[in-house]
Amino acid sequence: MNTATRPTADKKLTLKDGSKVSIRPILLEDLDAVYGFFKALPEEDRAYLRFDVTDREVVEERLREIQKWGRLKRLVACVDENIVGTGVLELRDSEKDFNLAELRLIVGHDFQRQGLGMLLARELYFLAAREKISELRVHILRPQEAALSIFRRLGFHAVEVLEDAATDRYGKLQDVVILACPLEGLWREMESLVEDFDIQHR
Ligand SMILES: CC(C)(COP(=O)(O)OP(=O)(O)OC[C@H]1O[C@@H](n2cnc3c(N)ncnc32)[C@H](O)[C@@H]1OP(=O)(O)O)[C@@H](O)C(=O)NCCC(=O)NCCS
Repeated sequence: MNTATRPTADKKLTLKDGSKVSIRPILLEDLDAVYGFFKALPEEDRAYLRFDVTDREVVEERLREIQKWGRLKRLVACVDENIVGTGVLELRDSEKDFNLAELRLIVGHDFQRQGLGMLLARELYFLAAREKISELRVHILRPQEAALSIFRRLGFHAVEVLEDAATDRYGKLQDVVILACPLEGLWREMESLVEDFDIQHR
C-alpha cells in the first residue's frame, strides 16, 4: 500500500525517549480524559488556543461536532490510557476551498520535544491524503513560537499575516500568521524527519 494513503487506525509508535504512544481517532467517551488533558496544560500553552478548553461545555460541544460533522477530525495520542497530545484536521467545505484543510496540534508539556507533534502531523497528513486534500494550512498567533518552528521545519511557509486579528486569553490582540504547505512537499519533509525515531508496532 502506498504509505501516503495508509489509513489511520489505532497505531502504536515510539517517541525519541523510548515512550510508547498510541494514536487513534477521538471518541465521545474520551470527554473526561481530553478535558483533563486540556486543563492540565500550562497557561502559556492554552493562552493562544482558539477555544477556551478550560470550559467543559466547550470541550463537549467540540467533541459532539466531531462526531456529527465528517469534515472535522481529531486524533488523540495516549500513553497508558492518558491523553498526552491531540491533533485536528479541519476540512474546508466551501466550494472554493474544498481542497484545503487546516491543521492544529497540542502536545502535553511533559511530552514536548519528543517528536510527538511530528507524529501527530504525519497521521493528520494521512487523513488529508485520504480526503484528497492538496494543501494544508495552519493559523498561528505570533507568540506561538514552538508551533511556528515545527511547521516551518515541516516545510510550511507564511502566506498571509492578519494584523491584530485574534484576541488571546489575556485579552491582548495578536497577529495571526497563516502558513501553508502543499501535501506533496510535506510528505518528503516528514519521511526524513521522523524516520530516525519512529518504530511502528502493528
Ligand atoms: C507546537 C507543539 C505541538 C510541538 O509539539 P512537540 O511534540 O514538542 O514537537 P516535536 O517534538 O515533534 O518537534 C519537532 C520539531 O519542531 C521544532 N520545535 C518544536 N518545539 C519547539 C520549541 N519549543 N522551540 C523551538 N523549536 C521547536 C523543532 O525543530 C523540533 O525538532 P527537534 O526537537 O529535533 O529540534 C507543542 O509545542 C505545543 O503543543 N505547543 C502548545 C500549543 C500550540 O501552540 N499548538 C499549535 C497550534 S496549531
